[in-house]
Amino acid sequence: MTNVTILDHPLLQHKISILRDKNTGTNEFRKLVEEIAMLMGYEALRDLELEDREVETPIETCMTPMLAGKKLAIVPILRAGLGMTNGILALVPSAKVGHIGLYRDPVTHEPHEYYCKLPSPIEQRTIVVTDPMLATGGSACDALTLIKQHGGRKIKFMAIIAAPEGVRKVHAEHPDVQLYVGHVDRCLNDDAYICPGLGDAGDRIFGTK
Ligand code: PRP
Ligand code: URA
Repeated sequence: MTNVTILDHPLLQHKISILRDKNTGTNEFRKLVEEIAMLMGYEALRDLELEDREVETPIETCMTPMLAGKKLAIVPILRAGLGMTNGILALVPSAKVGHIGLYRDPVTHEPHEYYCKLPSPIEQRTIVVTDPMLATGGSACDALTLIKQHGGRKIKFMAIIAAPEGVRKVHAEHPDVQLYVGHVDRCLNDDAYICPGLGDAGDRIFGTK
């Protein structure tokens, strides 16, 4: 599939395996999600545009590349996407941060929007949407539609673990979005949880049940 990249660096795979372990506690889980987001962001942002700027070194003046264009926008999908934000901010500290609040109905598994605040203007920015879990793909697709309704165009979506169903849905409904995934798992279960997955990402990051 075009526009879908599986980031299978050994360090990422190792850290994702620790996330999966049900005995990994909240503190370690949260740190790992942040580290994984940073490692994924390092790869996913390798096409950021640069422009030469003049810098005076202690030796002489030179033209040297720096990030060009409008500041990056990071848009976590609440709640679990929040856990990935600081990892990407560590790479691009000047990024703006928007938020989209969605929760999945436990019975229908349909996403419901409860919050949306995005950096304005958003048209010219590279936008990185974060959510550790891409299950049915409903939340991702709704978030991407919302961002496009606000004018977003250059969009990347980062998920740590995805189900094949979610990857197919995002690719079908938003073929222009670059999707970065740490691992594509086997399937969804009857509750639309990813198998083997890691359970409920929001609960594991925030220590709720
Ligand atoms: C989880 C996860 C995604 C969504 C994925 O969030 O963080 O946003 O489910 O499922 P989908 O691909 O089937 O839409 P949840 O709705 O549980 O909310 P939370 O982050 O507040 O726990
Ligand atoms: N949301 C999660 O947090 N985990 C899943 O496996 C599916 C949706």
